[in-house]
Amino acid sequence: MRVLAVALLAAAVLAAEAAAELPEFREAPAFRNGAGCAGAPTIHIAMTLDATYLRGSLSGVLSVLRHAACPESIAFHFVASSASPARRLAALRRALAAAFPTLPATVHRFDARLVRGKISTSVRRALDQPLNYARIYLADLLPRSVSRVLYLDSDLLVVDDVARLWATDLGPDAALAAPEYCHANFTSYFTDAFWSHPEYSSIFTNRGRAPCYFNTGVMVIDLDRWRAGGYTVKLEYWMEVQKQEARIYELGSLPPFLLVFAGEVKAVEHRWNQHGLGGDNVAGQCRELHPGPVSLLHWSGKGKPWLRLDAGRPCPLDALWAPYDLLRRRGARDDLLAAVA
Ligand SMILES: *[C@@H]1O[C@H](CO)[C@@H](O)[C@H](O)[C@H]1NC(C)=O
Repeated sequence: MRVLAVALLAAAVLAAEAAAELPEFREAPAFRNGAGCAGAPTIHIAMTLDATYLRGSLSGVLSVLRHAACPESIAFHFVASSASPARRLAALRRALAAAFPTLPATVHRFDARLVRGKISTSVRRALDQPLNYARIYLADLLPRSVSRVLYLDSDLLVVDDVARLWATDLGPDAALAAPEYCHANFTSYFTDAFWSHPEYSSIFTNRGRAPCYFNTGVMVIDLDRWRAGGYTVKLEYWMEVQKQEARIYELGSLPPFLLVFAGEVKAVEHRWNQHGLGGDNVAGQCRELHPGPVSLLHWSGKGKPWLRLDAGRPCPLDALWAPYDLLRRRGARDDLLAAVA
């Protein structure tokens, strides 16, 4: 009897914790299609959905809708980990529905077991979460009828009409488009063990162009070409090399993408990923925008605007994120959001 009581108490505590951990969010304004949206293509956007980045995901969605001429033509695909208990998943769905009651959104469950044995520890623990690898499996997670998807990280704001990015011409054979950064030191993304191994390093010799760094937080993916090219298996191959043969890189899910796609991605204008606003992976210091126009602000790196704002130590650019914050604060006025609507 006593054992049962203890078990019940433990279950009740766990349930209360799981339910209580998610903060409350307020409802975003409804965004409607403008004139000229008849026949607009459906834009498919994939993002992850988890408790840690929920606040960032919701502000990202708000930013996309706020700047789209045809917001009702956007279909969101949220990817949640199968490792989340049903109760947590229900809470995530509730938060999503509270913020965006009429949003066309599907929640896909990513089987975290697919990557469990393939993740090697990186410089930052947040990069080692299985859900961080879900972008590798979008071609399997999304229905076959979806032939193109825009993958967006959960720490960014879109401040332009996402239809412009969606319309990227991938040319005759690219499976992936993203801004490239050819001035970044490509060598530094891989270890000496990689570069000194002829079989590994020779993979870059037959690429269309010299390989360049690109950030995997913003990608336009042709899912038909991805499926035909078997890219998921190619990415998994490098994860297995890293795990079982030699430590060939230090970051998380990014280097496998470089190994498979660098030199063959379709370049997108830099305005679509002004990344690094979260500083580096260790200190998360304040950063400035890169020169040039801005269509997307990305707080990649350790520092996240909601954490810095909550801590009372925001960076100057975090002020741009604050108006998109849907977190409900007790007793606070909702006046910041009015500036966005
Ligand atoms: C690029 O990075 C590698 C490895 O970290 C380093 O040895 C090399 O000197 C760097 N090259 C330049 C031009 O900075």
